[in-house]
Amino acid sequence: MGKLIELRCPKCSTVAATKTEFRCRSCNDVLEAVVSVDHLRPDDFARMRSSRDLSIWRWFDFFPVESRSSIVSLGEGSTPLLHAQRLGERIGIANLFLKNDTVLPTGSLKDRSNSVGMSVGKEFGYATASVISTGNAAASVAAYAAAAGMTSVVMVPKGTAASKIIQAHAYGATVIVVEGRFDYEVAELYKNAVTEFGWYDCVSTNPYRLGKKSYAYELVDQLDGVPTDWVIHPSAGGTGIVCMWQGFKEFLTLGWIDCAPKLVAAQSEAAAPLVAAMAKGSLTFEPVDARDTVAESIQVGNPSSLGDRALAALRESQGTAVALSDDEILEAQALTARLAGIFAEPAAATSVAAAKQMCQRGMIGRDEVVVCNLTGHGLKQPEAVPFSETEFAPIAPTLPALQEQLRKFV
Ligand SMILES: Cc1ncc(COP(=O)(O)O)c(C=O)c1O
Ligand SMILES: [Zn+2]
Repeated sequence: MGKLIELRCPKCSTVAATKTEFRCRSCNDVLEAVVSVDHLRPDDFARMRSSRDLSIWRWFDFFPVESRSSIVSLGEGSTPLLHAQRLGERIGIANLFLKNDTVLPTGSLKDRSNSVGMSVGKEFGYATASVISTGNAAASVAAYAAAAGMTSVVMVPKGTAASKIIQAHAYGATVIVVEGRFDYEVAELYKNAVTEFGWYDCVSTNPYRLGKKSYAYELVDQLDGVPTDWVIHPSAGGTGIVCMWQGFKEFLTLGWIDCAPKLVAAQSEAAAPLVAAMAKGSLTFEPVDARDTVAESIQVGNPSSLGDRALAALRESQGTAVALSDDEILEAQALTARLAGIFAEPAAATSVAAAKQMCQRGMIGRDEVVVCNLTGHGLKQPEAVPFSETEFAPIAPTLPALQEQLRKFV
């Protein structure tokens, strides 16, 4: 059973008095949900691996959910891990693997977090889940709230494109559009609203959203004994890096693996606070003003909840952080689609762009085993793909017209 021991502050060790406080009452840091896994044995690993449940819930014992009856699942997890030979050849890595999270239920990695988070919310008896987001998190929270029988409220700043919130609206979320800047006025209103209305807060301060630990478990399972040298994750708030590292450490402690991969945070150079901190050798990040980037989903300049913990995880794993230009990201998106058959959104393709850059800089050896997490579907942001109007211009329904068109493009 996934047994929650307590919510504890990693900075000052204060233990929360209730299970619904998300911040430390002494130092205001984000609390950590401590789950006991000491009772697990190698037999349990074999049992989990052979479970017919292919969702993240095959790893139930690692999540802070008391009862299986509370699980809110849309079948997230066990996403394909593909050996991308053609793409690997092109970028110079023979053992390049793509973890295809574009196929998750709402099309992004957020489903891993929200399945666990919403299960806990349901266990606590909340009626309404909320999130402040302009994209993937909004859709995912809305879908999992719907599955849990809860209502959801999504708060976004004025100016957010309809395409970004339509998916959340479709799942039944109440979408509140607010005048002001995302990180400032909108965030302030959101915080006050959570307190005022007692919503279940599904942002990255929620310590129960540990679902991304499942990346580690699934990779160990799917690579089946092949030691992984690098796992590259597109990073914004830092949840992926922090949770993945926690997952690998749990397996190390249990003796289920002998070594863990080096983790890499791939960031857009327009929003790269982790890259800057790693380059300086700093234990803490400095917030930056995020500039516009094609990698919209990871345009986060101030990963205030988990940024420092992500840096610690990168360092402990002996990994690094890499910044990518929009050109590198768009090139990686096109290569991933055309050579591996996966249409990932630009933010997700930063992992492949980082693999390519690291290979060119001699940081990754040709025969090393590299996993790139592809964290969101390309259809989330189709307008990012450049295309020519001429290609889509209608032609006459005749063979000569077709021949002429093919001459232009083939
Ligand atoms: C597509 C995509 N990839 C990656 C991330 C990175 O999130 P995190 O750093 O919290 O794992 C996000 C969310 O912010 C996202 O939407
Ligand atoms: Zn504290």
